[in-house]
Amino acid sequence: MKDADAIVSIIGLNKWFGSFHVLRDIDLDVARGERIVICGPSGSGKSTLIRCINALEEFQEGRIVVDEIELGPNLRRVDEVRREVGMVFQNFNLFPHLTVLENCTLAPIWVRNTSKKEAEAAAMKFLERVKIPDQANKYPGQMSGGQQQRVAIARALTMNPKVMLFDEPTSALDPEMVKEVLDTMVDLAEEGMTMLVVTHEMGFAKEIANRVVFMDEGQIIESNTPASFFANPQHPRSQLFLSQILR
Ligand SMILES: Nc1ncnc2c1ncn2[C@@H]1O[C@H](COP(=O)(O)OP(=O)(O)OP(=O)(O)O)[C@@H](O)[C@H]1O
Ligand SMILES: [Mg+2]
Repeated sequence: MKDADAIVSIIGLNKWFGSFHVLRDIDLDVARGERIVICGPSGSGKSTLIRCINALEEFQEGRIVVDEIELGPNLRRVDEVRREVGMVFQNFNLFPHLTVLENCTLAPIWVRNTSKKEAEAAAMKFLERVKIPDQANKYPGQMSGGQQQRVAIARALTMNPKVMLFDEPTSALDPEMVKEVLDTMVDLAEEGMTMLVVTHEMGFAKEIANRVVFMDEGQIIESNTPASFFANPQHPRSQLFLSQILR
């Protein structure tokens, strides 16, 4: 069943890579404004799951509904869904031959038909929000990893997404840059953005998540508030996982 208040509903999702059953019977409703942290061992299907929401992966069974746009196995409404969903990747995925400002205006100009002037004004607003307006004319290669990731967040925001997906946004960063990116994400959370975040930053999960979803072998095996998940994990596999990462 689909929850009426959900902005993202995943219903009976199954996906295979060839004969490998990577996602098994995933059901997940994300309420408007909800912030979900997804964690679990390497290879459990976390990236594949969030990539399905943005139609970066096809799937074989089930339904994904994003703000009433239904994405079936045939992915017919890819463009509509991608307009609603912003994504931030581990390795930033900025265009290296474009400046920060050009990275942030490309989609608004080409996908939303915004004028260049308007797109640049909007992009500057988002670059101010992630605290790097002074870097607008630099190329990604001239910036630190933390700055590049903040540009990637600003770039996603320029499309006014209703949902933001993050796939290990801080795990490629040097430790001293993790905080600046997490702070940007906390700001976004406090502004009410709906967020699904794959991360092992458990401090972040405790601070801003409404729910922690734990995956193993393609399944969601636990879904709970951070307080219950950390204090009292229910499943032996989540207990083992937590004992390994919280040492
Ligand atoms: N394009 C692909 N073709 C075949 N198998 C794939 C493909 N992408 C991922 N897989 C496999 O699917 C499984 C889930 O991968 P996924 O990247 O979703 O895991 P993950 O939970 O994000 O892991 P990590 O924590 O290492 O990022 C893994 O066993 C992986 O090898
Ligand atoms: Mg992954």
